Amino acid sequence: MKKITILGSTGSIGTNALKVIGAKQEEFQVLGISGYSNFELLKEQIEKFDPKYICIGSKDKADILKNLYPEKVVYFGDDGLKTMGGLEEADIVLTAISGAIGIEATVEAIKKEKRVALANKETMVAAGEYINNLLKKYPKAEIIPVDSEHSALFQSIQGSNYKEIKTLIITASGGTFRGKTLEDLKEVTVEQALKHPNWSMGRKITIDSSTLINKGLEVIEAHMLFGIDYDNIEVLVHPQSIVHSMVEFVDNSIIAQIGVPDMKLPIQYAFTYPNREGSCELERLNLKKLKELSFDQINNNVFKGVELAFYAGKTGKTMPCVFNSANEVAVELFLKGKIKFLQIYEIIKKAMEQHSIEEADNLETIKKVDKETRKWVYDNYGED
Ligand SMILES: NC(=O)c1ccc[n+]([C@@H]2O[C@H](COP(=O)([O-])OP(=O)(O)OC[C@H]3O[C@@H](n4cnc5c(N)ncnc54)[C@H](OP(=O)(O)O)[C@@H]3O)[C@@H](O)[C@H]2O)c1
Repeated sequence: MKKITILGSTGSIGTNALKVIGAKQEEFQVLGISGYSNFELLKEQIEKFDPKYICIGSKDKADILKNLYPEKVVYFGDDGLKTMGGLEEADIVLTAISGAIGIEATVEAIKKEKRVALANKETMVAAGEYINNLLKKYPKAEIIPVDSEHSALFQSIQGSNYKEIKTLIITASGGTFRGKTLEDLKEVTVEQALKHPNWSMGRKITIDSSTLINKGLEVIEAHMLFGIDYDNIEVLVHPQSIVHSMVEFVDNSIIAQIGVPDMKLPIQYAFTYPNREGSCELERLNLKKLKELSFDQINNNVFKGVELAFYAGKTGKTMPCVFNSANEVAVELFLKGKIKFLQIYEIIKKAMEQHSIEEADNLETIKKVDKETRKWVYDNYGED
């Protein structure tokens, strides 16, 4: 039995992970789950999966859970999340929290030399250099990517030497607004931006997909996970979302991972790696029904997220952290109706321009820069 902690069990990735586990109860056991605000769903999950450890956002709700389930260990808040990341009994920690708030729990899981099934891409963007140093210090810890693109890259690299890689080709659906002009995007609403053509995901990542900043985050994540130079990472628009990403090797051979757009596959692979297993939860791709697989350039004049990410990544040090923090607050302000869609790019650009870069090799600096950047965006574009 592999014991799994799911950080962010009430979210889109978290609920998919519980479906994967639910279909394989002879193999996986839920050790701990964490939600933040969705009390009712967390309660349902406790009833169904009987985890030993639980974490929720507030102390009030944690007290209610303690009364309801006196035999369970209940944590709350940021410290609770951190404790959940480092549970000794866990074999695998799935980080399915949205945002840089996931960093410290990931750090704890690495320090306890766990397998981290990493969905929380913001951790690798904001703190990638620090996390990579930590992985050297705790060599038994491992990160297996859950993001579909990075899982695809990871799967395509299996059996090859990293030195044989020429290019990482990350595919992008193009998001809700593919083909739109800057003029079209001036007045888009939150509802329009939340409609993703191919994937059903949490609100923050859905907005990131519509700005293509999600691809920017993924470029930095890919650099941090696979150690490939930014000049050898490419992004292509692939509207069908069937090819989840590809690796081009030195002999010009390209290996791709393809399948239906369903996060349960990369989640399960991160749990069962290095093995592959069947499951009633995994859908087959009907190749005969595929009419077209097309690939195109990103329109960087409209969707500026990828170029901003390349700038942040190539600058390095604390700049990717600023890119991420500014985006997190900008998305929050957009969702609250306080800024317009295109201002998301403006905020990230200006936040990076005003930042004085520092070494990003320790957690204190990352936390400080994250906090300062958030404050800068709130001070200039919204309120805290
Ligand atoms: N969804 C996808 O298909 C997908 C694909 C690839 C990568 N990812 C990545 O996976 C991560 C999760 O994405 P998602 O779409 O699953 O997000 P989501 O649906 O918004 O879920 C986020 C989870 O984090 C919890 N949470 C939110 N704020 C928190 C806080 N301050 N402290 C502790 N927990 C908090 C939420 O709890 P409550 O709901 O209870 O408030 C929820 O369980 C993101 O990093 C995203 O980029 C997602």
